This record gives sequence, C-alpha cells and structure tokens, in this order.
Amino acid sequence: MDIDVSKYFKPNLNEARKRSRKDVPHDQFHLDEQLKTIGHGKKYLIDTYGCQANEADGETMAGILSLMGFEKTNQEKEASVIIINTCAIRENAENRVWGELGRLKALKRDNPDLILGVSGCMAQEENVVNRILKKFQHVDLVFGTHNIDQLPQYIQTAMFSKERVIEVFSQEGNIVENLPKNRNHTKKAWVNIMFGCDEFCTYCIVPYTRGKERSRLREDIIEELTELKSLGYLEVTLLGQNVNAYGKDFKTNDYTFGDLLRDLDTVGIPRIRFTTSHPHDLDLKTMEAIRDCDSIMPFFHLPVQSGSSSVLKKMNRHYTKETYLDKLKQLREIVPGISVTTDIIVGFPGETDEDFLDTLDLVEKAKFEGAFTFIYSPREGTPAAKFKDDLDPQVKKERLYKLNELVNQGYLEGNQRFQDEVVEVLVDGPSKNNPEILAGYTPHQKLVNFKAPETYIGKIVKVKIKEVKTWYMMGEIVQ
Ligand code: SAH
Ligand code: SF4
Ligand code: F3S
Repeated sequence: MDIDVSKYFKPNLNEARKRSRKDVPHDQFHLDEQLKTIGHGKKYLIDTYGCQANEADGETMAGILSLMGFEKTNQEKEASVIIINTCAIRENAENRVWGELGRLKALKRDNPDLILGVSGCMAQEENVVNRILKKFQHVDLVFGTHNIDQLPQYIQTAMFSKERVIEVFSQEGNIVENLPKNRNHTKKAWVNIMFGCDEFCTYCIVPYTRGKERSRLREDIIEELTELKSLGYLEVTLLGQNVNAYGKDFKTNDYTFGDLLRDLDTVGIPRIRFTTSHPHDLDLKTMEAIRDCDSIMPFFHLPVQSGSSSVLKKMNRHYTKETYLDKLKQLREIVPGISVTTDIIVGFPGETDEDFLDTLDLVEKAKFEGAFTFIYSPREGTPAAKFKDDLDPQVKKERLYKLNELVNQGYLEGNQRFQDEVVEVLVDGPSKNNPEILAGYTPHQKLVNFKAPETYIGKIVKVKIKEVKTWYMMGEIVQ
C-alpha cells in the first residue's frame, strides 16, 4: 500500500545542515489547562538511548507527561504511551531501536489504544522517518529534538483523532525555558547549558540532528542550579555537545564557558561537572576556573578521536596530535592531578597502520584514565560517508582490541594513584554487581565500592581506598 506522506512534517538533512545568522529567541513553556488532565488514570514509559543530552530530554518528556496527569511505569503492558527516545550516532545504536520497534508490534496489536512514539536523533533523519512511515505502521507518533515542548499537543492529536502524528522540523526552534522535568536521580542532575553543535566533524550526525549551537542565558542556568541546590542536589553535570563553545552565539557580550563556571561555583552545589569539550575550543579561562573553583571537579573528558594528524584533518577536528598534547600538558600544569578521559574512533576511512600507531602513541603519551572507543560507523548524509573506505572490517576489530588493551592499562593506572588515599564519595546506592555493598564516585569520577549502611546513600562520605582494580576501587568508610 502506498502512503500519502505529503501531509507530514518530515526532516531533511540538507535543510538541517543550514545555519542561520539569526538569534534564537527564548520562550517559556506553558501547558493549557485542558491538557492537564488528559493523562489521568493512564501511564507512560520512556525508553532512552544515547548520550546525556538524550537522557535530559527523556526527563523533560517525563516531566511534561506528568504535568498532563500521566503516571510513570516500567511495565510495557500497563502503558498508554510508550516513547522510544532514540540515538543515531552509530549504526548499532539504530539497529537496537529497529529491533525494539519490531518487537513492540505485538503489544500494539493487543492494545490498539497504545500510543507508540519515536523521538530523539533518529527521528531527525529522513530515511528513518520514511522507513517508519512505510514499514512500521504501528508507530503513531514521531517528533524530533527541536519540538519536545509540543508533546502535549501531539499526544492530544494522537489520542483523539487517531491519526498518525509526524512532526519533525529540520531546523531548531526557540530555546524553551521553564520545561518541567522528572529527574531520574535525587542527588545528581543534568543541566543543559547549550544545544546543538556547529563543529561538523565529518563522521558525525549530531550537527544535523541537534541543530545550530545556541546557549541558554546565564541567569536561566543559575536559576536552575539554585533550585537544584534548594532541593538538596549534590552534583550537577552541565551538558552541551561542545561546552567550550558556550556563549559564542551571544552577540552583545563576550561571556564564555570559563565565566559561567565561576558564576555557577558561587551557587553552592558541592560538585559541578561538564561534558563534552572540544579540544580546539578549550581555553585558558576554563582551565583557570577549574583550578580556582572548589565545586568544579578535577575531571575532564576531552575527546581526541585519533592520534594521527592527517586523520584528524579528514575528520575536520581543527587540531593536530601535537597541539592536542600541548593543550593537555597546559591543562595538567594548571590543574595538577586532574583526571582526563577521551573518545577514540578507529577505522576511519583511509586510516593506515601508521595512523593507527600514532593513535596508540598518543594514548600512551596522554595518560588517559579512561576512554570510550568505537569502530567508525558511516552515517548517511555526513561527508565521511562518501569517503573511500576499503579497510578490512577484521582489521578494524583488531585495532579496536589493541587500543582497548592500552586504554584498560590507563584505567588501572588512574585508579592506582589513589591506593591508600582517603577520597570523598558521593554514594549512589547499592553496587550493581553486589547489592550488599554501596557504590559511588569520587571527584575524579572513580567508582568506589565499600561496605556501609544504606543510610549513607545520597551523601558525600570519606572512604579510604584499600584495593585497586581496573574498573573500580574497594574502600572502607573513614569515621
Ligand atoms: N559532542 C561530543 C559527543 C559526540 S558523540 C563530542 O564531540 O565529544 C560521542 C562520541 O561518539 C564521539 O566523541 C565520537 O568518538 C563517537 N562518534 C561520533 N560519530 C561516530 C561515528 N560515525 N562512528 C563512530 N563513532 C562516532
Ligand atoms: Fe559530533 Fe564533532 Fe559536534 Fe562532537 S563536536 S557532536 S563529534 S560534530
Ligand atoms: Fe546519540 Fe543524538 Fe546524543 S545521536 S549521542 S542521542 S546527540
């Protein structure tokens, strides 16, 4: 059956690529009275994939659905609304979602009133929306990353008109403040400081799925942190695809990320983290703010992607192996003892053995204390997807394996420097692998396990490190 797709708002990657010079207006979220009750007696389930930005979006959707009267559930069978909040960063992330959507067909057959929605970065891809329209007719609702604030209207239409709702905009809308959030944690919170990305690394889909770089106003961020403090939050992670570009879109002032860190330090939240940084934009002001502000944690995730300057050029990263290492040296001089982690891609199109050896060499020199490592995955619509890629997949796997061996050594050495030290741990809860013990993270973002009563959960406590492993440390409470 051919479907008339002309009535839908579908995304377009070419349109998404465009950057306007216009300022992005700031709006306030508002929910009409009549929409505040349509979820009464009904439940929602949100399944989020991908990065912290997506997790934060999932918390916003949950907040909106709660305001509409829906209750949260983890049981698919109980849910009246299920939203799959997707990630498009690599093919395997997408394949998991296709699998899930296929599986949910049976649930929709048994419960035709269920509203099954797809949101997030995959929804911003035209090939994905076309495939959903044609092959996944049990999906009722598709909306993108730019219009989450419109969720109430979409749910209303899907519920009462029984029409499929496909509303994806290629370009960003306004920054919407005052959005409700149902946070997943009571002590640790995500706070967006900016949206979008203008870097256009040649392998990456994010600038297309998240729109142009746009910063929230400092007073709105300060207000959110102040509220989190009053609610007893102990840790905040500031989010942006490239936090070091914060404020670059402000036309009337030169307030940047380093200034923001200093202002947020005064709010009184004990721990502030941020992610992610682009090495090219990391500046002295930021490094000095980390040094000077007690609440800014001594941990830095600084994705390098490759150790080969020629691969970095093809990736459009705007730095070389040498300038990256120089920046790292400067960071460590200014903030001694800071823990640095990274992201690395192997098997980028045209990566030679020599390029890969450069990556291994950089990893050794950089002394990373952790890394997320990936095999390059071509993303339709990005420049690198058209680059010639004739490397044997087996060779890519071997490179990943070799790299991981070296990276794991870094994890271990990073932990070893805390042997017999007393560290402060923000206690998350029982350890995932052993419910008898508690687990939490140190300022350097090291995982610590220790025996203690459950009353310690949600507090910052002192722990002496007794034993060090690759992935975690064992400690004892210091009274
Ligand atoms: N804005 C952040 C996060 C981007 S996504 C940053 O720049 O660091 C997280 C990581 O996924 C990237 O750092 C990169 O290492 C990896 N990644 C992005 N696109 C990829 C692709 N097409 N194939 C494999 N890995 C990719
Ligand atoms: Fe993607 Fe590069 Fe932007 Fe990170 S900085 S989101 S890797 S384009
Ligand atoms: Fe994935 Fe989108 Fe984040 S592609 S990594 S969810 S910005």
